[in-house]
Parts: sequence; structure tokens; C-alpha cells
Amino acid sequence: MRPYLTGFGNHFATEAVPGALPLGQNSPQAVPFGLYAEQFSGTAFTAPRGENRRTWFYRLRPSAGHGAFQPYEAPGWRTDGPPPSPNRLRWSPLNWPEGAVDFVDGMTAYAVSGDPATQTGVALYLYAATASMSGRAFFNADGEMLIVPQDGALRIVTECGVIEAAPLSVVLIPRGLKFRIELLNQRARGYVCENHGTAFRLPELGPIGANGLANPRDFETPAAAFEDDDTPHQLLQKFQGGLWTTTLAHSPFDVVAWHGNLAPFRYDLRRFNTINTVSFDHPDPSIFTVLTSPSETPGTANVDFVIFPPRWMVAEHTFRPPWFHRNIMSEFMGLLEGSYDAKGDGFAPGGASLHNSLNAHGPDRASHATAVQADLTPNKYEGTMAFMFESRFVLKPTQQALSLPGLQPDYDAGWSGFEKAKL
Ligand SMILES: [Fe+2]
Repeated sequence: MRPYLTGFGNHFATEAVPGALPLGQNSPQAVPFGLYAEQFSGTAFTAPRGENRRTWFYRLRPSAGHGAFQPYEAPGWRTDGPPPSPNRLRWSPLNWPEGAVDFVDGMTAYAVSGDPATQTGVALYLYAATASMSGRAFFNADGEMLIVPQDGALRIVTECGVIEAAPLSVVLIPRGLKFRIELLNQRARGYVCENHGTAFRLPELGPIGANGLANPRDFETPAAAFEDDDTPHQLLQKFQGGLWTTTLAHSPFDVVAWHGNLAPFRYDLRRFNTINTVSFDHPDPSIFTVLTSPSETPGTANVDFVIFPPRWMVAEHTFRPPWFHRNIMSEFMGLLEGSYDAKGDGFAPGGASLHNSLNAHGPDRASHATAVQADLTPNKYEGTMAFMFESRFVLKPTQQALSLPGLQPDYDAGWSGFEKAKL
């Protein structure tokens, strides 16, 4: 494994063969070794410099060499569903598929907002795979993909190089970048946020200062690596909600050198520098934001990726778990390991919950009863990692998610039976 390049959004330059990367210009008349120069644009050409993302590939063959795409049947990616209800929903973990099912075929769409055509909102998926993608590659023209492994490590081959990621690390695949996912264990399960909106970036730090939360140096992008493989490959893409397939005469992972700031990365969630109160009260979960996709309204995200990592709890005379709340933003949560401090056993690692705009939720009755009587000495909440995709847009559950056997019929019951306050 070649070393990773570190930093967030840096202009990287990397070559798998010495001398393959042109110096001083992007598209010389004679590219070294006869490689083909190809620009991969993640923003409009004229996007402001601070927003502009593009990478130059130097590859064995141009990407344009393929025949027409044909529709590919992929029911798990379907996001259609009934008109959304306001009801709170929770799911037990996905069942493992029978037989050999790879990352593409093992996807289940849970909820969606906005759409790729207008470049708004997200589609949220869970995957459960028992096989590596073999002889085929995938790219998503509808959005970048934030992959959150929960069970099983992944080896992700991309046009930019190879990323390995185990649970508690996340991987960001830019919109349109080709990749193949191999399993490093018998099976793999996790979550995916397909972001139709503005690309994820680090949140502003405001009064926190120059350091803290996810630090840029901890983001790792692969160095160039390529396959010289002239056997036929299937190339799949997601385009405007549907999947499409065509055949290539060779591996699409043939980029020998590249430079630019549009590239995949991995990030180890255990490196998150968690900020919390050292006096009293429960700060808003925005202090746990790892990545944000802003919308046109300042401070109002298309989607935030927020984590609830292990942390010291020291708040005095305070109800320490999340309080009851009604949030105009919509919240989709998952759990990677351990438990979440406002919920009992029903929210299991690999499970999910959905609390849509302005619908009340918070600690269940048992968690509340424990928290109001808890000894408030400092204690460390350990062995846990929950996360949330929080969006300004209502997240509509898909028909297939509403039909899953893991949908819990009695989720509301966790909030029943609270005693009336006594005046
Ligand atoms: Fe919430």
C-alpha cells in the first residue's frame, strides 16, 4: 500500500510511475508515456477559487471509450414511496442477504429528500454485502457518497488510488469518481449518504478557534495506483435516480498519475477532537459536526454529518443526555457500536432511526428516569459511536424501507407513560 496524502481539499500531485505526471502544464501535446490527459470537474469551471474542485487524470486510455449504457435493474436503489407521514420511525439492523451480493446489489434506500436534478437533498442507504465487486466498477453521477462502515472492513479501489477503511472510519467518494468495493472480511454492512447538494466540507469553527473537531491533517487521500488489466469490465453508474450499465474492454482504474483537489478520502472518527461543556447544560449537537454540506441559507445545512463519540461527561446540575426537542431540521441516525445515551436496547448497532421536521422526540422513559437520578460525578461515556445525518429537508422514507421486517412497530411506546409533573 502506497502512503496516503494528508490534508483536506489540498491540491495533491501523485504518480504511480516516476515521470508520468506532466510538469508545468495540465495537457501537454505529448503526455509522458503517451498517457491521456483528462479533466475531472466537480464544480462549474467558474466556481470561485475557494469552491473550485477539479483533478487532472493521466491514464492508459480515455474514459470516453465505451458504448451506450443500458438500464440496470437495481430495486434496492429505488427511492419512491408514499406521501411522507410525520411519524417517528426506527429500524433494527438489516438482515444479511442470501448468497453472494456485492456493495451495489446489497444497497437498500431508506429515505430521500430533494433530488439529483435540482442538486438538493440527499438519499440515505444502508448496505449489506457478502461479496466483493468483481470485474465491475461503479460511479454515482447523482451525488458524492459518504460511506460509513458499521461491520466489516472495505478495500475501495478508485481512479485516484486505493483506500482501506474499517468501521469507525468513513470514506468520501466524490460525485462521478469510479470505484470498486472489495470486502476484507466475510461480509460488510454500513450506511451511505448520497449528497445531491454542495460537496461536504469542514464546518467553520467560529469562537472555537483554529483547532478542534475534525482536523484537516487527519483526512487521508490515496496516492496514485493503477491496474493494467485488459479484460472486459462492467461499468455501472447511477444517473438521475436509475442505474445504468455498459461494458469496457479494460479496467477503468488505469490512472497512472493525477493532480488536483477533487479526490476521495478516509477519516478516522476516533481522531475527532470532541468539544463539550465544562460547566452545565447540554450543547446543541452541532458541536459534533464532522462535515457539512451548506445550502444557500447560511447556517442551514443541506446535510450535516454529526457524530456522538466517546467523551467525558462533566456537566453539573444538568440532565446530561439529549433533552426532549422539536427540531425544524430532520434527523436520520445510525449507530456504529455500543449504545446511544438517550436510548435503550431498541437502537442497536446497524439500526437506524428517523425523526422528521418538528416532530417531538428525545430520551425514552427509561433513559430519562436514569438521567434525572444519576450521580453527576465526571464519567466517561465509552465504547460508543452514534451518528446523524441532519438535513433542512424532510426525509421521506422509501416504500422498501417501510416494508422491511426490521421496521419497529412500537417505537412510539418508548415515550408513553411519563408521569405528569406535580405542581
Ligand atoms: Fe433529535
